[in-house]
Amino acid sequence: MERTHFNTELGLKNVGEKVTLLGWVSKRRNLGAILFIDLRDRSGIIQVVVNDGVNVPDVRNEYVIQVKGEVAKRAVANPKLPTGEIEVIASEIVLLNTAKTTPIIVADETDALEDTRLKYRYLDLRRPCMQHYFDIRDTIKMTTHSFMHRHHFIEVETPMLCASSPEGAKEYLVPSRVHKGQFYALPQSPQMFKQLLMVAGFERYYQIARCFRDEDLRADRQPDFTQIDVETSFLDQNQFLALMEELIKDIFKATINYDVQLPLRQMTYKEAMERFGSDKPDTRFGIELKNIKDIFKESAFEAYQKAEAIRCIVVPGVAAQTSRKVIDNLALEAKKFGLGGLTVLKKENGELTGSFMKFVSEGENRALNEKLGLKDDDILIIAAGNDNRVTPLLGALRLKYGRELGLIKEGTYDLLWVIDFPMFERDVETNKISATHHPFTRPRDEDLKYLDEDPTKVLSYAYDIVINGYEAGGGTLRIYNQDVQRKIFEILGLSDEEIQERFGYFVDALQYGTPPHAGMAFGLDRLAMILGGTDNIRDVIAFPKNLAAVDPMTNAPTNVTQEQLDELGIKFQD
Ligand code: AMO
Repeated sequence: MERTHFNTELGLKNVGEKVTLLGWVSKRRNLGAILFIDLRDRSGIIQVVVNDGVNVPDVRNEYVIQVKGEVAKRAVANPKLPTGEIEVIASEIVLLNTAKTTPIIVADETDALEDTRLKYRYLDLRRPCMQHYFDIRDTIKMTTHSFMHRHHFIEVETPMLCASSPEGAKEYLVPSRVHKGQFYALPQSPQMFKQLLMVAGFERYYQIARCFRDEDLRADRQPDFTQIDVETSFLDQNQFLALMEELIKDIFKATINYDVQLPLRQMTYKEAMERFGSDKPDTRFGIELKNIKDIFKESAFEAYQKAEAIRCIVVPGVAAQTSRKVIDNLALEAKKFGLGGLTVLKKENGELTGSFMKFVSEGENRALNEKLGLKDDDILIIAAGNDNRVTPLLGALRLKYGRELGLIKEGTYDLLWVIDFPMFERDVETNKISATHHPFTRPRDEDLKYLDEDPTKVLSYAYDIVINGYEAGGGTLRIYNQDVQRKIFEILGLSDEEIQERFGYFVDALQYGTPPHAGMAFGLDRLAMILGGTDNIRDVIAFPKNLAAVDPMTNAPTNVTQEQLDELGIKFQD
């Protein structure tokens, strides 16, 4: 089909040229003698002018047409369009196909509900802003392939139909027809395979890998997502992070022409939690957490005396608008984090006020003012209790206020590594110990001594890359010493039989000359989301699931026929 240019290839340089364009009718305006058509193609929109006398078929929105004509300079440029300085004076319009009236407006601004957009995703994806996200996504992939190739990485595909793995809880299972009653699992990540590729001597592996996790969905989570998955041999942590930073720098440059300054700073997990109440701190604004346990050592409030942690944040300039209702809502927030409540004090006319002040001594009052530098119209939010609850609660409130008060500047990027994660975490309710990352994560050499006395004191060679408060990727150095691996399994309470049954093949493989190795995975969708400037991961995935894990277009998941179930030997319980 004849086409001389994509729309946005045209500019003032083409004035006077004869062109043939293809695309969809984005808008038409009939001014009697003149018809204006906004023609949209893959590259963008251009204005077509059809003067009286030109034979024009009946064209409506989203009709597919071919336009033949001549490029002309516009009398008045439209700065909103990349092609805004020119227009095409049509000599012929060929109708290629008609379209039904679309159920959503095919334009950047649309008022359609998200489920309607997902139901008619092919129309939603026609919107220029959506196509922009996919350009960004594609550029991330191309940049990655090129970077990896230059740095001697090899892309290897790993299976989609796998054995169920140690952290089985979030797995999607696929029943085997041939082996009735047995299941494959879809990979949560290619973790074990990529480590085996290191045993196999590949040294530098990567894969744009599909991953599947059956977890509660959020704005930055999908059940079916993509990682830039990496594994390397013989690099220590700083060598590995330096290499990955180069990749990120290339991606930022290629997608949004932004120069990331290297090296990225590194912050320990402990510092991130203590200052920002999060292991993925958004450090683009203040409102940092402060530890005020010391001040309340002898508090008249019993719960404060007993509390493991007492921390606070100071939010500036909001005392006047902090009504009873706002305070009640903050308390509800505290309940979500498993705390009984929280304390809100206001600084007004030079005095701290609030019902809790009856428990605050003069000395404590003075100490709070001195330590926190409180100013009029500040509010002070104090949380006390188990530190595993206090810190994340204040971290969440800090973020809420940062957003509400517009403290985060649009278009700014903050990248950092969070390092030295705890090797294990203990569930507050069950007291059970589990691996923070996965059981193959290498404990720090200097902490091996704590493995026996108190494993929760052990930190690991683990790192996350955090961009604007999102966990954009994470990884670890891996254990390659058999004794350490055995010890970790022991701490996790796995018996020899369990180890053999769940990942015997893996533990066996590690005995055949495993090189020291390290790796990580970037969330490709999250990178596309951050670089595309959206806070909704579904915007950067062509056919995503909604928050209920349903695809409103295909209706997946769907019922299947009795025959299909019979063939798989599956019967449902009533
Ligand atoms: P992890 O589980 O931290 O590590 O995942 C790596 C990165 O993948 C992204 N991510 C997700 N993105 C969208 N939806 C999800 N449900 C989702 N879950 C994770 C995040 C995250 O940082 N195998 C290890 C990596 C390694 O150790 O090499 C792993 O998968 O951006």
